Amino acid sequence: MGNIPNNQKISSLKKTLEDIMAPTKELAHGAETLQWLLKIKPNSDWQIQISAFAHDIERAVPFVEGKYPPKPEKDDHNSYDSYKQAHALRSAEIVGIIMKDQHFLDSDIAKVYSAIKNHEIGGDTDSDLVRNADSIRWFDKGYIKYIEKSGLNGAKEKGWWMFKRANKETKELILSLTFDESIKQYIKNNVSDLPYRQGVYGLLLNDIDQILLVFKRNSKMWDFPGGGVDKNESLEQAIKREILEELGTSNISIVGISSVTNKYDWPEKEMEKNFNKTGIWKRDQEQHFIILRFLGTDNEIKLQEEELLESKWVDKEDLQKYMSYPDQYDTVSKALTEFK
Ligand SMILES: [Fe+2]
Ligand SMILES: [Fe+2]
Repeated sequence: MGNIPNNQKISSLKKTLEDIMAPTKELAHGAETLQWLLKIKPNSDWQIQISAFAHDIERAVPFVEGKYPPKPEKDDHNSYDSYKQAHALRSAEIVGIIMKDQHFLDSDIAKVYSAIKNHEIGGDTDSDLVRNADSIRWFDKGYIKYIEKSGLNGAKEKGWWMFKRANKETKELILSLTFDESIKQYIKNNVSDLPYRQGVYGLLLNDIDQILLVFKRNSKMWDFPGGGVDKNESLEQAIKREILEELGTSNISIVGISSVTNKYDWPEKEMEKNFNKTGIWKRDQEQHFIILRFLGTDNEIKLQEEELLESKWVDKEDLQKYMSYPDQYDTVSKALTEFK
């Protein structure tokens, strides 16, 4: 462990960064973010402390040819998020240049670089810490100035952006703070308005009114054929596509779409995972049940083997014992009686 730079070396790096930010509001911003980082994680690595302190440093640094890269312009980016990414990258590059000048180890530079580069969206432990500290700081210190600058509606939007990117613990911490009530209310409303992914399940009946079940490899459970609705797809198109993909047949007719749906909420962690992967907040699934009539013969059914192990026709009376999700049987029975 002889490679840890001594405290003096770290302090003098911090002093350099401080001097650069001092003429602007970024110094206070950095210092407050660092304070929150140390509240969230008191023993944070020194590299992450530096990252929190200097994550927005580029805002205080003009373009210096041959030394610092050009500033990103909002107008050159087609989304706020892409501008934010360019902003984060520039901060990372500037701090990287300064640390190189001061002869820090490449591994230390790399750790700081990556935490700052990803500070807007996070995605790993280090950058998540900086992002969370930056978000909560906004609700503690930033929102009043934001209201002055962009009005209450602007501040509500910004607040939602700051909130939704934070992890679960930080979200809870944010909601426990005292800040503008109308912003808080706006966030709470948005949370309860998060969309559900849309899913379709086919209740496929044969000519003696048995229902087709498929055994899913992943979940090791009996279930109905079906899956997620793609963008720009209707429920009817989605179920036809899913049936074709999973059962290899399009020899079906649609009897009706049940008005009953099942909604599942992901645990927050899953929502966050999905957000980090896709950039979209969703809260799992709203399942629609489509009643279908199978017009073919059993040998037309060719199971998609990667997902499904087997299929079987089941009498309605026997359905309950194959169901594994809460409310699944009730929802399905209601759906079936709608189209009797
Ligand atoms: Fe930033
Ligand atoms: Fe920031």
